[in-house]
Amino acid sequence: MDIKLQKVTKIFQAKDKSETVAVNALDVVIPSGKLIGLLGPSGCGKSTTLYMIAGLLEPNEGRIFFGDEDVTDLPPEERGIGLVFQNYALYPHMTVRQNIMFPLENIKVPKQEALSRAQEMADLVGIGELMDRKPKQLSGGQQQRVAIARALVKQPRVLLLDEPLSNLDARLRLQTREEIKRIQRETGITTVFVTHDQEEAMSISDQIVLMDFGVKQQVGEPQFVYDKPINLFVAKFLGTPPINLFAGEIVKNKLLLADGKKYRTETQAPEHQEDLTEDAIRAMTHEVKVPICNVEIMDKKAPDGDVVIGIRPEGFVVDEKGPLELEIFMVETIGRDTSLVVKDPFDDNKSYRIIIDSSYRVKAGDKVKFSFKPDKMFVFDKTSGDVL
Ligand SMILES: Nc1ncnc2c1ncn2[C@@H]1O[C@H](COP(=O)(O)OP(=O)(O)OP(=O)(O)O)[C@@H](O)[C@H]1O
Ligand SMILES: [Mg+2]
Repeated sequence: MDIKLQKVTKIFQAKDKSETVAVNALDVVIPSGKLIGLLGPSGCGKSTTLYMIAGLLEPNEGRIFFGDEDVTDLPPEERGIGLVFQNYALYPHMTVRQNIMFPLENIKVPKQEALSRAQEMADLVGIGELMDRKPKQLSGGQQQRVAIARALVKQPRVLLLDEPLSNLDARLRLQTREEIKRIQRETGITTVFVTHDQEEAMSISDQIVLMDFGVKQQVGEPQFVYDKPINLFVAKFLGTPPINLFAGEIVKNKLLLADGKKYRTETQAPEHQEDLTEDAIRAMTHEVKVPICNVEIMDKKAPDGDVVIGIRPEGFVVDEKGPLELEIFMVETIGRDTSLVVKDPFDDNKSYRIIIDSSYRVKAGDKVKFSFKPDKMFVFDKTSGDVL
């Protein structure tokens, strides 16, 4: 069953009547049986969106559909959802078994059936052996699995996870996220997974929905969104190390790497002055603005103006004929790749990260010329941030 959000808006009003638009006219279709990563920086409206799908919050505007059914006015308990939060929220005085069975007792499932369903879910999430323990006798990852088993035991139509891994340490996070992916695949349940961690979302999602300030930025398969970001926000948000950004300029369909707004004014006098009178020389002498340190990168059909050039760390190619020379500041070789830190050509306080094949021998202090892989390089309008 798919989930459709149609122009869903949530506005919170504070006591002083000031308003926060937490979610702004959000249109999303979450395809049936898929795991969707709802991703974005803190405060962008991820949890609010999830709670509206759950029915814990009511949208100010818009409709929410589960399949063809409009659930906008349906209370949470009638929606058929399983919810898992960041803090596992298990009942501490109950055993694992009792925790998992709890939702079934509420809906009066016969004891024997409840026991067998709880065991089945516990086995599914890999804690079948721990049924008699109390939550405090479990690791964080195990507790979170109990929470997932408890969310699944009612056989919900939708599984909603709000930062389920953020209380776990790095190793457990990795392990548990793979578990979640496996459980989701095995059950085929439509799942929304909220996180602010781009790597986490990229690694387990069939699709990601990237939000900023309550507004949907881009939706698609993780690799597609990484490869074809529609704006600067998306390009910056995805990727480790992050994309390198340079100030640039489009002049007559050429893309220049330029130092933003800094121009040098040059006086240009006519050539062959010997044939001219002093007045003529004065009349023909004029000032021209020359961008400081501009480097022609490539042809780019776009209107003249300031741009931001984004180049992924893996988008640089060591190339004697390359347009940009950069000084290497630091070199780290990790297996197949060499990671370089280079200085900004215009600003010593700024640096960039480049990843090249480790077969290139470079060392700190070298000046190396680079060209760029066209599919790893993006040009954004400086004002709107839209990709050009
Ligand atoms: N009950 C509330 N009352 C007022 N404002 C709220 C309320 N809940 C959330 N907000 C505001 O709405 C915006 C979105 O909040 P939300 O919790 O959805 O963000 P989030 O993307 O889940 O962030 P995080 O990654 O930090 O969990 C924020 O600006 C937040 O301050
Ligand atoms: Mg949140």
